[in-house]
Amino acid sequence: MKILFFGDIVGKPGRYAIKKILPKWQKKYQPDLIIANAENIAHGKGITEKCLKEILDAGIDFVTSGDHILDQKRISDLLTNKEIPLIRPANMLSNTPGNGYKIIQIRTKKVLIINLIGQSFMKKKHNNPFTKIDQILENEEADIIIIDFHAETTAEKVCMGWHLDGRVTAILGTHTHIPTADARILPKDTAYISDIGMVGVKDSSLGADKEIAVRRFLTERHISLKIPKQGPVEVNAVLIETNKYNMAKKIKKLQEIVAF
Ligand SMILES: [Fe+2]
Repeated sequence: MKILFFGDIVGKPGRYAIKKILPKWQKKYQPDLIIANAENIAHGKGITEKCLKEILDAGIDFVTSGDHILDQKRISDLLTNKEIPLIRPANMLSNTPGNGYKIIQIRTKKVLIINLIGQSFMKKKHNNPFTKIDQILENEEADIIIIDFHAETTAEKVCMGWHLDGRVTAILGTHTHIPTADARILPKDTAYISDIGMVGVKDSSLGADKEIAVRRFLTERHISLKIPKQGPVEVNAVLIETNKYNMAKKIKKLQEIVAF
């Protein structure tokens, strides 16, 4: 089975690039399942129904999220609707609406998709992702297991990789928006990358207007970030291929620039 996973899609430029690239990549790579982290699709902050529909209509099958998931007012309706293929981090506090993982059927395979969030340098408090994942894996049965670990530090992500090697098919990092050069198959056949990178404007700060972002550092004041109205857009994703044991055979980093 081939699984295509896009890193954080940022705002309108990101949504546009997904619509542009998917027909081409579907033909070229023939993925069986397409997943994306979309916690920044609504102008960089959270997910709205309209934006979500746009990327699902474009061909994304399943959506993961992270620290911005609760930014939009009506997100609870989306998170609690069983028909919508959207999850939030499983180790968020227990009163958070929605689910942290879901099992979907892809042909003959049961695919368990789990979203986790890191604890290091995150503004809000979250439960321990390491003990949470142990609890989930103890209770759930699936053929293929894919994890989106939405976290800030490479150390926390690398350690999660080692914690899960041989126990899941892939553990993929999101959140920093910067792709890392460490895509690999761990010794016990788990695909790993610290961060996939974003689908957002290339000449930006993590997908947001670079001038405003620099001004924030210069003035040390909170200035609201904006999403640039022009591209080009950098598209970052990984393509995972599974072996007959439902573990990872290959992980390939994909990057392309889309005019916007
Ligand atoms: Fe994030």
